[in-house]
Parts: sequence; C-alpha cells; structure tokens
Amino acid sequence: MVTLTPRLDAVFDKLHTCRAVADIGCDHAYIPIKAIEDGIAETAIATDLNQGPLDIAKANIEKHGLLDRIETRIGGGLKPLFAGEADQIIIAGMGGEVISDIIASDTRIAKSSGLILQPMNSQYELRKYLIKNGFMITGEDIATEGFKVYNIITARAGTQAEYENDFYYQLPPYLYSHRNFRALYDKKMREFSKVISGLSRSAECDSEKLSRYKFYLEEIKRI
Ligand SMILES: C[S@@+](CC[C@H](N)C(=O)[O-])C[C@H]1O[C@@H](n2cnc3c(N)ncnc32)[C@H](O)[C@@H]1O
Repeated sequence: MVTLTPRLDAVFDKLHTCRAVADIGCDHAYIPIKAIEDGIAETAIATDLNQGPLDIAKANIEKHGLLDRIETRIGGGLKPLFAGEADQIIIAGMGGEVISDIIASDTRIAKSSGLILQPMNSQYELRKYLIKNGFMITGEDIATEGFKVYNIITARAGTQAEYENDFYYQLPPYLYSHRNFRALYDKKMREFSKVISGLSRSAECDSEKLSRYKFYLEEIKRI
C-alpha cells in the first residue's frame, strides 16, 4: 500500500479510471503503483530520463509485485511513448518550462492523451504555452504541504481563448474560490514583491519586466 504526500495525492486525484497511464519522470513510481493497486488503471508506463531513478522505480514496482502491470522505460520527456498509448500522461515535480519543452517536443503524443501536470515553478509560462499551442486547461488544483504550495493543472488538446489580461496566466480567476487559494495568494504576493525589489535594486534594471511585475502586484491586490 502506497501512501502519497499531499502534493502527489492531489496529482493522483486527477486520474480517472483508464486502460493505461504514463508517468513521465516517475522517480519512485508511487503514482503508477497506486493507480494499479487502486484499480484506476489496468497498466502503466513509468519513464525517467535517468537510470538511477528508474532503478528505484523498478525496485518499488517489484516490491509491490507489479512488474507485469507497470513497464519501466528510460528516455527523455514523451520520447519513450507512442501516440495514444496512454490515456493519461502525468508530468509532475519538474519546472513549468521543462514541462512546456517536453510537451512542445512531442505535441502529437501530448495531444493524444489527457495531461496531468504539476509544475514546481513557472506556472505562468506553462499556462501560456498550453493555451497558445492548441491545448485547453480543463482544471486546476492547489495542494499544500506545510508552507509549500503546489499547482496541479489538467489539460488536453483543444482550443481555449487567450486571456486578455496577462495577469490571469499568473492567477486564473477560477482559482480564487479554492480552499487553498489564500496560501497561493500569499506565495504569489511574496514572489511579485521579491522580483520588484530585486529589479529595483539592480544596476541594469529590466524596465519592461519591472513594470509588468508592478502591474501584477496591483492586480493581485485587487482580488
Ligand atoms: C523531482 S523528480 C519528480 C518525481 C515525481 N514525478 C514526483 O513528482 O514526485 C524529477 C524526476 O524527473 C526526471 N526527469 C527530469 N527531466 C526529465 C525529462 N526531460 N524526461 C523524463 N524525466 C525527467 C528526473 O530524473 C527525476 O527522477
């Protein structure tokens, strides 16, 4: 029996009953293991760029007696998958720009599955990439672990109108009523204030970025 942390539990929560799930950058492979044990998926593919984490994944899968249901594959991003092989693809615990790059490198594969994404940072860039590149965001969740705050974004191929207000890529309005929104709000407040004070003190100030972050700070205060 695998016990997930709140972050991984929130990712797991987005899985729906399916034939096959793929976990990209699986490391420990806890999510595929739980998906099979709970009967959410019939089979799973656990991939990782690096042999070390994949060995850990394989050892965990073996410990749970699931080597016949979860296949491990080494490789970067979506390269180890065929289009349509997995009903849902999880990419969790990586930077938002790395996740965007992984999707951009193999959009055909990404568009053939539902996506469950858990960016550790650069959520703004990831939302923007998805909406501008033929994906629609189907849901979001916020998980907390102590003082840490995590975003979970689900998406799939489709069209979604671009936001007129650039601030909504930072904090989309549908998050404002989430039970953990206060924690995310405080985190973004700190982030915007830190960027502004850093840029203000810098000798070679990026004035475009400074005015953009001042705008974000004004917008967040209006919520
Ligand atoms: C911080 S761990 C996250 C593990 C797990 N997904 C989670 O959320 O707890 C990141 C994992 O992704 C792997 N990784 C990094 N870049 C990758 C890429 N481009 N493709 C596949 N795996 C990658 C790393 O080797 C590492 O095992």
